[in-house]
Amino acid sequence: MITPQSIEQIKNRIDIIDVVGEYVKLKKRGANYLGLCPFHNEKTPSFTVSPAKELYKCFGCGKSGNTITFLMEHEKLSYVESLKWLAARYSIEIEETESTPEQKQLQQSADSLYIINNFAAKFFEEKLFESEEGQAVALSYLKERVFRESIIKKFQLGYNPSAKDELAKALVQNQFNKELLPKTGLVVIRNETDLADNYRNRIIFPIHNNTGKIIGFGARVIGKADKAPKYINTPENEIYVKSKVLYGSYFARLAIDKADECLLVEGYTDVVSLHQAGIENVVASGGTSLTVDQIRIIKKYTDNLTIIYDGDAAGVKAALRGLDMALEEGLNVRLVLIPDKEDPDSYVNKLGAQAFQDFIAANKKDFILFQLEVMMKESGNDVTKKSVVVNQVAETLSKINKAEDFSKQQEYIKQCAVLLKIDEGGLTNLVNKYKRDKISKEEKKLPFEEADHIRLQNQQADSSADNLLLLNQDEAHERNVLRVLLEYGLKNWDAERTVAQYIFDEMEQFHFDSQPLEHLFNEYRSWYEKGLEPTAKSFLYHEDEHIRNLVVSITMFPFELSQKWDEVLEGMNIVNRDVSQQDVLMSVSYFKLRKIKKMFEENQRDMEFAPIEQQMKLIAVHNQLKEIERELTKQLGTVILR
Ligand code: CTP
Ligand code: MN
Repeated sequence: MITPQSIEQIKNRIDIIDVVGEYVKLKKRGANYLGLCPFHNEKTPSFTVSPAKELYKCFGCGKSGNTITFLMEHEKLSYVESLKWLAARYSIEIEETESTPEQKQLQQSADSLYIINNFAAKFFEEKLFESEEGQAVALSYLKERVFRESIIKKFQLGYNPSAKDELAKALVQNQFNKELLPKTGLVVIRNETDLADNYRNRIIFPIHNNTGKIIGFGARVIGKADKAPKYINTPENEIYVKSKVLYGSYFARLAIDKADECLLVEGYTDVVSLHQAGIENVVASGGTSLTVDQIRIIKKYTDNLTIIYDGDAAGVKAALRGLDMALEEGLNVRLVLIPDKEDPDSYVNKLGAQAFQDFIAANKKDFILFQLEVMMKESGNDVTKKSVVVNQVAETLSKINKAEDFSKQQEYIKQCAVLLKIDEGGLTNLVNKYKRDKISKEEKKLPFEEADHIRLQNQQADSSADNLLLLNQDEAHERNVLRVLLEYGLKNWDAERTVAQYIFDEMEQFHFDSQPLEHLFNEYRSWYEKGLEPTAKSFLYHEDEHIRNLVVSITMFPFELSQKWDEVLEGMNIVNRDVSQQDVLMSVSYFKLRKIKKMFEENQRDMEFAPIEQQMKLIAVHNQLKEIERELTKQLGTVILR
């Protein structure tokens, strides 16, 4: 983990204009900068960057955040990757907290694997282009398949010579860790100690991760594969996890973004050939069905997936297997089948780039409807089989479950009902049944607290400022205390205390009902007590994503509460007031009032059921609470009237 000190250092150096300006042309407008939003298409700029607040906001699409979230969204980096990106940019040396020896080892071995792969890729490239053998055997084969040199170089294709251990020798000579080498799959151990090349006499396709680092290789035999397997691939290791790899994603990512569509093919050669033909928004699955992780990689860039597979049954079956998952992740899936005996590589070379593109455009089929057609053909006129199909379709459609996809789902239900010649309402009911089944199954799985948290979140969504003034939104009041804490915590409250200390004192006997808010409160307190001077801004760099999101939602959408109060105060003609003091006082008092009210209600309930001998005690509590409530109300009254 990166140390708080390093994060602090990075934070202090961040210049949002500099970072965002790298991707967006910004013009100064008063205190802010303005440009065309990189997150949606627009002709007039509505993307605003505030260097003072260190925030950006697009008034067109509503996207907002800080430098880190910008890198996360735009460059698809993780939080830690963003920090490292910034550290590299500002030449800040990152300190990482004591990781466990296992973590350290893992990190070191991952780093070494990258270094070894990089070395090997260079070695293979050189052998392909510079060695006589490479030129005669491999380069000539690639050229026969009409790959041009520029595309070969772009994808860093290479050649592993046919001698027993040319690469192995070079690796050992360069003093790479001998223990680690077999992990890369580049070499194998022979006769217990000797290292031999694993990809002898093969064309090498380096596999890059999303940031362009080489994580593994695919090694293809030259010519027909009769004896040996056609491809040998890197075994799974710290950096190569097959289910998370999409071949070509590094080269395709910008084109996918731009086209708002990702083409999915099966093979390495398909990707390279399509690139050569100028079709760059393409990745390969390696011939297996898509995994959730692969779908998520695609989903980072686009919602539109077009699968281009051979028309043979195996290809289609493999593709279909990933469909439900893709729908669940909210992808729109389309399918293009390439005519028999061809694959995208051979077909684009046969037709030429333009005709191939036209073919794709003309033959794109909606995947759900395609699946239905296939199943209907199989079931024929058999009634029981048809009912299986209906259920299957309903289940598939129930996977489209994102709120924003609702109309999409409606449209599908309509179309499928027509194709199946059944009643639309009936199909809708069936789809809903599958949805309900799924939800109740999931709820059973959820631990109690998590379900509670989800419920709270839903509740939050429909709270409003008006409700707040009526004092019936517990969570809103809890959030409000955190808002003033984040906003004014470091200011002075009185001669002895800061606002934060005042709030800590006042909150002594109370707690938050919302777990996330309680957590944020404790986190604030622990930073404060360590002398870290927490603010909303510094919390935006917190390691925990939940905390970051919570802070953004608390500070950016403060329920317009303070605005309302401002109006109240304004209406009473109060001048020269110290807004922050009153804001804090009101927030804390309302919070407490709310809690007291609840305790009051509880107490009253207890009184109804308690045996007579306890009544006296409860009445005492009742009076006590009444007293506190009176105090609080009085205090609030004076705030407004002062
Ligand atoms: N594949 C593999 N191992 C094999 C065969 C195939 O890993 N023994 C994977 C590779 O990622 C390959 C993809 O499945 O790229 C598709 O296989 P195939 O269509 O047979 O290969 P192509 O890449 O199309 O190769 P070529 O065009 O040279 O035949
Ligand atoms: Mn092929």
